[in-house]
Amino acid sequence: MKVTVVGAGNVGATCANVIAHNEVANEVILLDIKEGVAEGKSLDMWQTAPINLYDTRIKGSTNDYAATKDSEVVVITSGLPRKPGMSRDDLIATNAGIVRSVTENIVKYSPNAIIIVVSNPLDVMTYCAYLTSGFDAKKVFGMAGILDTARYRAFLADALNCSPKDIQAVLMGGHGDTMVPLPRYTTVSGIPVTELIAKDKLDAIIQRTKVGGGELVNLMGTSAWYAPGAAAAQMVEAIVRDQKRIFPCCAWLQGEYGLKDIYLGVPVKLGKNGIEQIIELKLNAEEKELLDSSAKAVKEVMSVLDNMQQPVK
Ligand code: NAI
Ligand code: 2OP
Repeated sequence: MKVTVVGAGNVGATCANVIAHNEVANEVILLDIKEGVAEGKSLDMWQTAPINLYDTRIKGSTNDYAATKDSEVVVITSGLPRKPGMSRDDLIATNAGIVRSVTENIVKYSPNAIIIVVSNPLDVMTYCAYLTSGFDAKKVFGMAGILDTARYRAFLADALNCSPKDIQAVLMGGHGDTMVPLPRYTTVSGIPVTELIAKDKLDAIIQRTKVGGGELVNLMGTSAWYAPGAAAAQMVEAIVRDQKRIFPCCAWLQGEYGLKDIYLGVPVKLGKNGIEQIIELKLNAEEKELLDSSAKAVKEVMSVLDNMQQPVK
């Protein structure tokens, strides 16, 4: 079982490290365009194997896709991260050029791979990889919902002074400030969260979740990597181990939730075939309105990509 992570920056290296540490695959290839960086980070990670006691081989490559040949899953993290004051959408032109060229190489060397996109703006970069690959949409999807839900769950664990392990939640929509956390589908070991926390406190947590990525950008001067890398690795694990896990992922909608021809965060079942089911929750009028406005925001950025003739490489 071979997994490739493209982009050996903060998120890609973290993702590769988690995959190796948890022995999710036999072999992880870490690829980057910067000379020596992927090789160096892979060697450093491999030298943790005798300490952390795992067997997964990690190999680095400077832009040589032959090393990625026949990967079963490829995670795309290559692209620029957000800087303070920059929206995810500002990144579109540069990152579309990068995601397009990376996807072309993936298709060439791993025609049967499942592709997980992480690069921002997430929903639109996933769309870009889908268009470029020509793969079935069940095999091209994006990571955002696990991360955004993890932030929501972590904030709730703090507020309730309970274990984050016990908090289950669903969050939908685009990976941006219009995302839609769903308190009606949030429980603490089965107990509706609304029975455990006051509405004003929950509203504040929802608001903090929506701008959770920006909070970290403001603190660190670049975007987050520990939780994003771990979230992408969790998706890889669900596929490689055919776990049939239910996660919010950025998926291609063809009529689900009344939305068509759009990549948007929805709950899905992930297994060896990629997205094996899109789960349609019964949303109330308020939730549906929030989802529709998030979809509208994502569609606008998708149309920027559709109208781009010459993406900047
Ligand atoms: P980073 O700057 O640390 O790493 C990006 C890496 O991509 C660099 O090492 C760079 O050399 C490499 N790269 C650039 N062009 C390449 C190409 N053509 N082929 C191979 N590698 C190439 O950035 P970081 O923090 O790892 O973030 C990566 C991306 O993930 C950004 O677009 C960021 O906005 C996004 N992101 C998405 C999240 C999500 O929830 N979907 C969460 C966090 C970050
Ligand atoms: C995040 O949510 C910026 O998308 C990145 O951390």
